Amino acid sequence: MAIERTLAIVKPDAVGRGLTAEILSRIHAAKFQIVAIKSLRLTKTEAEGFYAVHRERPFFGELTDFMSSGKAVVVVLEAEGAISKWRDTMGATDPAKAAPGTIRKELGTSIQYNCTHGSDAPATAAFEIGYFFAGLDLV
Ligand code: RTP
Ligand code: MG
Repeated sequence: MAIERTLAIVKPDAVGRGLTAEILSRIHAAKFQIVAIKSLRLTKTEAEGFYAVHRERPFFGELTDFMSSGKAVVVVLEAEGAISKWRDTMGATDPAKAAPGTIRKELGTSIQYNCTHGSDAPATAAFEIGYFFAGLDLV
């Protein structure tokens, strides 16, 4: 499998609950390399741009309110097969349906407050990494 990069976000629910270090520790334990990392608070408009693919979904307003509600930690991860590997590490979107041992199962509290984000395909990973980081950040 090829070396890939993916975008992970520690969402505002997890940052607010003091779970950033716990989630970064799971990232290290799963043997991802951290290529770039920063803490920021998205504006509502920036959150809408990030999740534009979901703009027709009924939860779009709630999702973008939530994602702009506090600090998030945005991380570029690198590993073999990083995109699917990170989604496996996070678990299913709904913590109630996520596999045992995953971040969302163990730390998430609802389908919305599910602690982390992960890119879902190579094209979305490229868009999402470029949304937050410049080329020089990624050398
Ligand atoms: P993400 O993009 O955040 O990594 O999550 P995902 O791929 O597992 O799920 P996706 O379908 O892309 O949904 C994006 C985020 O929207 C929230 N959501 N709320 N209320 C709902 O029914 C609902 N469904 C999704 C979640 O925070 C989800 O992670
Ligand atoms: Mg998604």
